[in-house]
Amino acid sequence: MDDAREAADRLEALIEAAGSVVAFTGAGLSTECGVPDFRSPGSPWLTNMPIDFSDFLRDPAARAESWRRKFAMDDVYRDVAPGRGHRALAALAARGKIGAIITQNIDNLHQLSGVPDETLIELHGNGSYARCLSCGMRHELAETRRAFEASGEAPSCACGGIVKSATISFGQAMPVEAMRRAQAATLACDLFIAIGSSLVVHPAAGFPALARQNGAKLAIVNREPTPLDSRADLVIRGDIGDALERYVAPANQAHFR
Ligand code: APR
Repeated sequence: MDDAREAADRLEALIEAAGSVVAFTGAGLSTECGVPDFRSPGSPWLTNMPIDFSDFLRDPAARAESWRRKFAMDDVYRDVAPGRGHRALAALAARGKIGAIITQNIDNLHQLSGVPDETLIELHGNGSYARCLSCGMRHELAETRRAFEASGEAPSCACGGIVKSATISFGQAMPVEAMRRAQAATLACDLFIAIGSSLVVHPAAGFPALARQNGAKLAIVNREPTPLDSRADLVIRGDIGDALERYVAPANQAHFR
């Protein structure tokens, strides 16, 4: 039996033996769907320095550039669909084998794969809509884009507030409720599976370490090494889709929203 198959069997044994499983996902989960990750060689995200939240607030030109980049990336992955990893996690959640999915991803693919809001914890927000930073009102991207492309200026809310994609930028405060839910799930689990993340961005990358410190087993599924590999009970250094596809419900049972 090859190593990859053996490792996937060991992961399955950990999942079956666990009482409470948390999945923690990063951009690697979505690369097979056509959504580039952030740190693999050649990633378009490596082209530009991220725009810090303080600059976004202070400088209208930075806001306009941020929206320009966002709409350009939205065109890259306009029609993407959940991949094998998303569908595997959705099936495990539907079976009650995964109690919480903590994601760093903003691509809405967990939702599209059928993961309910009560199971999903988005640490870095969601890029499929926008919000006013003052009154919190939700703004749909289609209308926001029309206004932006008509004026070339970053959109603002009827209340006068600054409108921003509902994602968490570098320098922006983490969402309090999502962090609370993520910590509670991490401390309650006995198996924490980190999937498709380089585990270098904090505070998100603190959750796998917290789970391990709290006595949970830690499994990591990632193509490249991560800083937590030495503390993991199982490391699958391979393709996520290959490692998880055994959990994917047959197409006729898939439940996309
Ligand atoms: N199978 C296995 N691993 C994969 C695959 C795949 N098909 N595709 C990519 N990977 C791995 C890469 O090797 C990489 O180590 O997934 C990891 C993705 O790491 P990053 O690109 O750093 O993404 P992530 O960890 O989610 O980034 C965290 O950083 O820029 C911020 O806010 C952004 O949420 C993001 C955060």
